[in-house]
Parts: sequence; C-alpha cells; structure tokens
Amino acid sequence: MCGIVAAAAQRDVAPLLIAGLKALEYRGYDSAGLAVLEAGQVHRVRAKGKVREMEALYLADPFPGGTGIAHTRWATHGVPNEANAHPHMVGRVTLVHNGIIENYVSLRTELQAKGYVFTSETDTEVMAALVDVNISKGMSLREAVLATVRELEGAYAIAVISRDEPGRVVGARRGAPLLIGVGIGENFLGSDAQALVQVTNKIIYLEEDDVVEISREGARIYTLDGKPVERATHESELSADAVERGEYRHYMQKEIFEQPRAVANTLEARIGAGGVLPNVFGIGGDELLAKVKGVHIIACGTSYHAGMVAKYWIEEYARLPVSVEVASEYRYREAVVPEGTLFIAISQSGETADTLAAMRESRRRGYLGTLAICNVPESSAVREADLKLMTRAGPEIGVASTKAFTTQLAALALLTLHLAKQQGLDSARYNDLCAQLHRLPRAIDEALKLEPQIIELAASFIPRHHALFLGRGAHFPVALEGSLKLKEISYIHAEAYPAGELKHGPLALVDEDMPVVAVAPNGPLLDKLKSNLQEVRARGGELIVFADSAAHIDGGATRGSILRIDAGGDFIAPAVFTVPLQLLAYHVAVLRGTDVDQPRNLAKSVTVE
Ligand code: F6R
Repeated sequence: MCGIVAAAAQRDVAPLLIAGLKALEYRGYDSAGLAVLEAGQVHRVRAKGKVREMEALYLADPFPGGTGIAHTRWATHGVPNEANAHPHMVGRVTLVHNGIIENYVSLRTELQAKGYVFTSETDTEVMAALVDVNISKGMSLREAVLATVRELEGAYAIAVISRDEPGRVVGARRGAPLLIGVGIGENFLGSDAQALVQVTNKIIYLEEDDVVEISREGARIYTLDGKPVERATHESELSADAVERGEYRHYMQKEIFEQPRAVANTLEARIGAGGVLPNVFGIGGDELLAKVKGVHIIACGTSYHAGMVAKYWIEEYARLPVSVEVASEYRYREAVVPEGTLFIAISQSGETADTLAAMRESRRRGYLGTLAICNVPESSAVREADLKLMTRAGPEIGVASTKAFTTQLAALALLTLHLAKQQGLDSARYNDLCAQLHRLPRAIDEALKLEPQIIELAASFIPRHHALFLGRGAHFPVALEGSLKLKEISYIHAEAYPAGELKHGPLALVDEDMPVVAVAPNGPLLDKLKSNLQEVRARGGELIVFADSAAHIDGGATRGSILRIDAGGDFIAPAVFTVPLQLLAYHVAVLRGTDVDQPRNLAKSVTVE
C-alpha cells in the first residue's frame, strides 16, 4: 500500500504532486507528505491525516521547485504521525517508500554504529541513510540507489532525490508497483497510471528489480546489475473523467450504480447469441482450457468471495472439481495439485502481495497453467499469468470493492459457461444460462431501484453493534460479501454463515438486538432456508430478508422486513443479490457518519504481506 508520485519538470511540481496523491489516496491515507528540491535546498511538508491536511500546510507556506517526490501512507512500521510520515530525509537524501524492508533492523543497527541517528520508527529511514552512505563513498544518486537496493530484503517501490543532483529523481521497484509517466519536457513516477492522468497518458511499466532515473529530458531504466534496459511505452486509456465522483456523494455509491454498465463491458464481445465466443481468455486459451481437469482458485477478501461463488458454478455446470483458498494460506502450505489443474488468481488490482506470492508459488507446483482475472491490464498479476480475463470495471476508487466484485462474477460466469460447454452440459441448459448472463446488466439495474427502501431499512442499523448474514449454496459467499461490506465501512461487527450452520452455534447470538439478514433466492434450497428463518423468528430475532420475487415467503415475522428482487434466474442470482447488500452497507455507513470511501485502517491495494 502507500502511494508514490514524483516529478522532474520545468514548472512548479508541488500542485501536481498533491493532485497525484489525491488520486492515490485509495492506497493509504493516514499521513502524507511531499518534498521539493530547488536550488540545492529541499523543502518538505508532512502531516498526519488525509492529503488535504498536508495540502493545507503547503498552501499556507508554498514553495517553488521543479523536482519533487510525494507520498500518502498506510502505516506498517510506526504509528501514523508526522515523524513517521514520508518523505524521510537523511543527510543529502530524501526518500519515499511503499512496501516493507524485512532486514531493516540489522541494517539500522549497523547504521547506528556508524553514527546515524534516526528520527522515525520506519524501515524507510534506514533506506535513506543507506543511500546517503553510498553517496558519501563517491557514488552518483543512481549508483547509490542501485547499491542500496541490492542490500534490501523485502518489498519496495521508492523515489529518491539528492540535494547534490538537481533535476533528477531515482526510482526502484521490487514487489510493489512503480511506473513512469512520459511527458513533454517533463517526466514522472507514480504507483499507478491514475496518479498521472492529469499530466500524461504515456506510461512505461517498470519490471521487478528495475531502477530508473528520470529528469526533464527523459527516463533511463537499469536492471539490478546496472545494465541499461528498454521497456515499452503504453498509452493509458484512463481519462480524468473516469476518476471523477460526478453527482454522487461518494465514489462507492457511484461505483455501485456503475455496475450495469461495468458488467455489460465485461461481457461485451465475449458472449454472443450462441454462447461464449472463442479466444476470450487470450492467445492459446481455448487450447489450454480444453485440457483442464480441475481448478484451484486463489484470492483475498472480496475477490475470494467471487471465487467461492465460482466454485458452486463450475462444479454444478462443468462438473469439474474446484477448490478455493485465500492466498495468504495457500502460499504457505503444500497444496496437492492433481494433474490437469488450472490455477486461477482473482484480483481487482493485480498487485495484492499475497495473491502475487501465491501465483509465483504455483509456478513450482506443476499446474496446467495460470489464469488471472483482473481489473488492471498492466498489473503484475496480468503480466505474470499465462491467460488473462480482464474484468473491465474501470477504476474503482472506493476502498470497499463493489463493481470489481460483480464484474469478477461476470468474468467467472463466462469461464463457467466455457468449461460447461466443453464438459458437455446439456445444450438447453447451456442456452438458458447464456440467456441469463445476457440479462445480468438489466437485472442489476432493477436491483438498484431498491435504494429508497434500503435507505429506510438502513436507519434501523444505526444503533446496532452486530449483524448476522445468512445464505445457502452460491448465496453463502454473497452473505459473506454483504457482511464484509457492512463491517468494512460501517464498523458494525458482522458475521456470515451458511444458513444450515445456524443451529450449530451462532443461533446462541440471536436475540432482539441482533438483525439477521438473509439472502433468499428462489430454488431448491428455499424451503430449507425458510426453516432456518423460523429458527430466528422463534428467538425474537429481527429478520431482514432479500427474497426473489418468485419465492414464496410469507411475512409471518413478528419483527423485520422482506425486500423483493427479480433475480433474473438462478445462475445470475448471486450477482444480483449482492447489489442490495452493497446498498445496505453503504447507507448504514452514511447514516453512521463514517468515512465511506476511505474507512479506517484499510487501503485498497494491499501490496504488503
Ligand atoms: C473489500 C476489498 C478487499 C479486496 C482484497 C483483495 O472490499 O476490497 O477485501 O478484495 O484486498 O484485493 P484485490 O482484488 O485487489 O486482490
């Protein structure tokens, strides 16, 4: 996490750096800072809190300068305060860092023995000191950074300036993203293309262990052994509009309402009247998928929930065994990989440290191949996978994933259909599933119309401390996703259970203070779910049931409400039922007055382990 932006330009860069940081704030927002080099002097401003707090300090006492680095932080080492905020300055060197340096304690001890005094609790300050030591030995800034990163263990993206080298910024990356923005007579570094959309759409993505030196004239890239290397320039398709909030109160709300369009984009030119089109999964994709005998899905958080839905789908329709696991567990255990198993990584950002580590680990475990389902085309996950399926959700700024999830489901539904056809699913059922998927954007659009009812319902959650979410089958992961959304942004403790598990423990929690949210699609499990709901009613629990319009559920509750949804079919129902749960979490959070787009302690792109 943490966001980095840097610039080497002829104009004053501080306002550009601040605008870039605001676009990167999703990566961390507990403190921010910037430093600008001008006439051999470094001016620095840092503040605890959001970028706007730091901006206010800068505006009260602005400084000129065409070379600068800036940072928005998600604390790993040391509490969020001004002293721990980046940039860190040691001697001639000023540095910003995203990542974790694992051997910083021993490096720090060595530096202290040489007389360095540290003013923060961070691992970052150690790097700045190491670069300074190397410069004292007569190295240029670039050579000093190269020598420093060779000593580091862990993950980093850094941007560094030196008082002695005006007009120059040196960057480096390992295990955390960093890219170059190529301007006209000015060049930039950023953690993502969004940070630079205001200044350029020409992007060069750095590879692992690259070191780069930018100046107004250009960018030179080097490998870890100091050899110059060329990397391709890409045109980013991001527009400044895509990251605007428009008429919506929060990005999250905007992103919830973008879902019909986003899902339609995911499906576009991938499914036709006769079903899923050929070559949807990239070059060689159809040939590789033809050999699949089983699937392992790895992901974190919301993306993991999408993977859980896919397990139900692929096992039911393609009759292939599927296992789903959170990446942080998978990477550290010896998973058994039967022959012909496809490894699927699901990640909105494509930069989640645990998911990337799991992907890399999968390479030595003998999979048939890897497929990345991802929202960011130039991300590490996409670049490292054999096959890719982009979710095309567009930038997601709200820290809580919404459209990323439903577009992941749409992508996984395409995969399910592809595998189901290949495995010989009956053609009438296949055609029915395809027709349902075609209907998905419209069904989501209809579900969004429940917003006024959900706002009313949300009011009853304001004083709550806990909530229970229930679902069965492919709607159990939907319940998990609903509870994750509620806890992330409203800070109400929420748990999700497969409804059948209720009586095996959690029923003990049910009383008049515990709202129980149930997802009740129409289908063979409905009667079972109704019995579970009776168990809640009998204990005085307040039931909030999201029910399919076609499902027969009577109001018989003494307390609670039923909201009707037209799910548009059993296959797509998990994606449709997700929408009211997102809206519920959103409106509860708004009513409770939390910071919806940037909830406490979280960050969007989790690039540390
Ligand atoms: C929750 C949320 C997180 C992410 C998780 C994985 O709303 O956004 O749980 O889903 O950190 O991130 P990606 O998908 O980028 O790998």
